[in-house]
Amino acid sequence: MNEIRIFCPATIANVSCGFDVLGLCLENFGDEMIIARTETKGIRIKEITGANLPMDAKHNVAGVAALAFIEKLNPDFGFEISIHKKIKAGSGIGSSAASAAGAVFGINALCGYPISNKELVYYAMQGEALASGTPHSDNVAPVLLGGFALVRSYTPLDIISIPSPSDLYVTVIHPQIELKTKDARSVLKENIPLKKAIIQCGNLGGLISGLYTSDYGLIGRSLHDELIEPIRSVLIPNFNQLKQAAADSGALGSGIAGSGPSVFALSQGVVTAQKTAQAMAEALQDTNIPFEIHISAINPQGIKILS
Ligand code: HSE
Repeated sequence: MNEIRIFCPATIANVSCGFDVLGLCLENFGDEMIIARTETKGIRIKEITGANLPMDAKHNVAGVAALAFIEKLNPDFGFEISIHKKIKAGSGIGSSAASAAGAVFGINALCGYPISNKELVYYAMQGEALASGTPHSDNVAPVLLGGFALVRSYTPLDIISIPSPSDLYVTVIHPQIELKTKDARSVLKENIPLKKAIIQCGNLGGLISGLYTSDYGLIGRSLHDELIEPIRSVLIPNFNQLKQAAADSGALGSGIAGSGPSVFALSQGVVTAQKTAQAMAEALQDTNIPFEIHISAINPQGIKILS
């Protein structure tokens, strides 16, 4: 195999109470990438469509992740990467993660799968570090593993796949303004009060338990972010109205998708997810900001080969 075409899905990091440690994978919305083997060693970004991103591999998230990976593999050939972006940069639904994960997944496949997708997370994270200043893996892990992924530890890296109920649906609305993860991280505080940490730990444990036991009520009660949302929500147009709309339409809960500006809601059943989409669209109308909405089941597979 000399060339591979892959689908790199969008993801939602944090899922309210799991800042930097929890993410989920969406279906049907994502980028396409083509990775090809070349005789010349190294990494070359051949083509990017759908976004204006750096062509120099050292300044491109896919390129940086790929360079980190080939430094380990040291193959006696190189790779050309073509990136066809659908996920907008700065949208909060894992644009840089899709590119970084796609690059290492494609290279791994073209080398005969020397390491597992779980082990690829480390290399994909190096691309995330370029995009956000911090090598977080709560987007790249669900891209590479599908479903919900929990980062139990960063040092050493310990990623756990979490099951989820089959009738769980995501609604995500993307107001078309760009919010860079780097900027959304720079407003956060270094330290948190013990009282808030206790509330956050309780909710994260509750959410994981609800996912394991298909307890939708528990999932809903646990979708609360005590730490990050109160700070970042001011950066998102009509955030409180969006949350209210999600609650009124029967969603289990809602919050900021990744670092925003997208806002997600979880619902039991696709019908409620569609009602929530309608209500959230109405909640954003008076801003005159254009938006996109996606409704998705949880994608259990994650990244996949198209051809
Ligand atoms: N956990 C990261 C953050 C996700 O919230 O900054 C970025 O998409």
